[in-house]
Amino acid sequence: MTKKILILGVGGFIGGTLVGSILEQKPDWEIYGMDLSHDKVQEFIGHERFHFTQGNIIEQEDWIKEHIEKCDVIFPLVAIANPAVYVSNPLLIFELGFEENLKIIRWCVEHKKHVVFPSTSEVYGMNDDDEFCEETSNFVTGPVNKTRWIYATSKQLLGRIIYAYGEQGLNYTLFRPFNWIGEKLDNIIDKPGGSRVLTQFISNVIHGKDIQLVGGGLQKRCFTDSSEGVDALVRIIDRADSEANRRVFNIGNPENNYSIKELAEMTLEEIKKFPAYAEKANKCKIVDIDSAEYYGSGYQDVKSRVPAIRNAKELLGWEPKITLRESVQKILAYHLKD
Ligand code: UGA
Repeated sequence: MTKKILILGVGGFIGGTLVGSILEQKPDWEIYGMDLSHDKVQEFIGHERFHFTQGNIIEQEDWIKEHIEKCDVIFPLVAIANPAVYVSNPLLIFELGFEENLKIIRWCVEHKKHVVFPSTSEVYGMNDDDEFCEETSNFVTGPVNKTRWIYATSKQLLGRIIYAYGEQGLNYTLFRPFNWIGEKLDNIIDKPGGSRVLTQFISNVIHGKDIQLVGGGLQKRCFTDSSEGVDALVRIIDRADSEANRRVFNIGNPENNYSIKELAEMTLEEIKKFPAYAEKANKCKIVDIDSAEYYGSGYQDVKSRVPAIRNAKELLGWEPKITLRESVQKILAYHLKD
């Protein structure tokens, strides 16, 4: 069935990966997208079903309203998803991630369009359940001086607002990515806290720096290959009028539950297989660093974060299979190819 999909923030990690999957799998779907930069969608520009507009969503209200009216499913993906920025610039996280997205959600309400909104695994915060369930798990965050939680609480409130609009008739789906990793995750830059953990580790090795384990690296994450993550989103769009409507989905791989220390060791082991980088990897040490020194005093960490994925399995027919090692190998091949 023909569908028109609007992706705001199409040039980001999830947007850029989603465009590739849709163009490959769905010959009848057309994508409209806006972002400041087109680096991560450069390969699709010129494709007859991908319409990219360069622009800032803050300044392009008319364009956005016009495209919400024209499209069937709306993805407001604009946000900064990097814990170092939650701590260093919490107001930016609120202004962009909350205020701008609230406007877009309200336009979806006005035009009666299905909004697919990225919640986050961060909403569960420091909850110590063995696994997090969309319907029953509590959200546990710290005091206001722990600014790390401004991202989670902004996303949490937007989720609650969308749910409340849903009770008045809005069609929506909330999805919660659990540490998606992929080729387009972050750019490799030489700055501590400049990117999320896997890209940060690769960047440290490439730039001859040690790998730093925040708080000893015993905290665990369930890493999820982004190709499988966006496959869940394609399934959500397919079922927007049925099983996926007014639902919340954790999208993560509970089998890939590794400590950050294990991730560091695996990444180094795999980099050693690239002859051009083996020497740097051999020289790289894995060292511990205090979280306040790395991020600042506004940081708190999450010890364990395992998704229950019964909803995604039963309602979307989705089940992730790619192991962490396979993802790491694929991502290294992409970054270390020359
Ligand atoms: C991330 C971000 O908030 C979002 O990208 C997203 O919403 C969510 O998780 C997700 O992807 O599900 P987090 O998992 O804490 O949060 O982000 P990372 O920056 O990837 O850090 C993972 C862990 O590695 C943290 O415990 C962090 O302290 C640690 N870390 C990070 C290090 O030990 N060393 C580093 O150099 C960088």
